[in-house]
Amino acid sequence: MKLEIHGLTKRFGSHAALDHLDLSVDGGRVIVLVGPSGGGKSTLLRVLGGLETPDAGEVVIREKPLPRSEAELLAYRRRNGFLFQQFNLFPHLTALRNLTLPLEEVQRLSPADAKATAEAALDRFGLLAHAHKRPAELSGGQQQRVGIARAVAAKPEVLFLDEPTSALDPEMTAEVLELIQELAEGGQRIILSTHEMGFARAVGDLVAFLAAGKVVESAPPAQWFEKPQSEQAQRFLSRVLRYV
Ligand SMILES: Nc1ncnc2c1ncn2[C@@H]1O[C@H](COP(=O)(O)OP(=O)(O)OP(=O)(O)O)[C@@H](O)[C@H]1O
Ligand SMILES: [Mg+2]
Repeated sequence: MKLEIHGLTKRFGSHAALDHLDLSVDGGRVIVLVGPSGGGKSTLLRVLGGLETPDAGEVVIREKPLPRSEAELLAYRRRNGFLFQQFNLFPHLTALRNLTLPLEEVQRLSPADAKATAEAALDRFGLLAHAHKRPAELSGGQQQRVGIARAVAAKPEVLFLDEPTSALDPEMTAEVLELIQELAEGGQRIILSTHEMGFARAVGDLVAFLAAGKVVESAPPAQWFEKPQSEQAQRFLSRVLRYV
């Protein structure tokens, strides 16, 4: 996927969550954002997904400038899929309804088409037997998989995943990671953030290391994990990899 970002800035009050961020990507399906907490990963995902409007800068994603008007942003959001860091599913709705609701309301499918599409997505991820359950009746890993099933049900151009494995135990993490890998192998374009370095390395075509609102460096994972260039990235990696 092609992605060109120049001088991207997003402020919250006086704090720049993204601070003249630059990133250039040419090719590959999966972009992985890594880096210290508060570095700007979620904010960048939200801006790229059209959920947050930047204060300054240029973004060209898949050869098109990121839309600016509210109407265009709405259409753009409809073409993409999201999984947020937290609070993904409606707690009062079944897994199936969690999928059919946005298909009906956002994608404007008929109830029958929405049901067929939702069931196909749940089936694909081995979740059909859980279709009637509410989130509280699902394990954390199952909830995350339902969230991902919902995000991909409408065949998004780009799938944005913000820490899809946060708050999961290692086995559930593995389950979710396998699912994402499968999606990537099936050709899905994905931009995700993660604190799972093993996963970043395995699934990413490109790793972008963010700190203090900037991409400090970006490279193919094999290269970046072996030889990070900046002292900041070296310090980050030596700290996080010590416990793997
Ligand atoms: N809605 C908001 N209002 C005010 N400040 C915000 C908001 N969203 C993010 N920030 C600030 O912007 C900075 C970047 O936050 P962001 O959530 O993008 O970091 P992150 O890299 O995703 O961190 P983590 O790894 O902990 O998820 C942080 O200092 C955060 O406190
Ligand atoms: Mg985050």
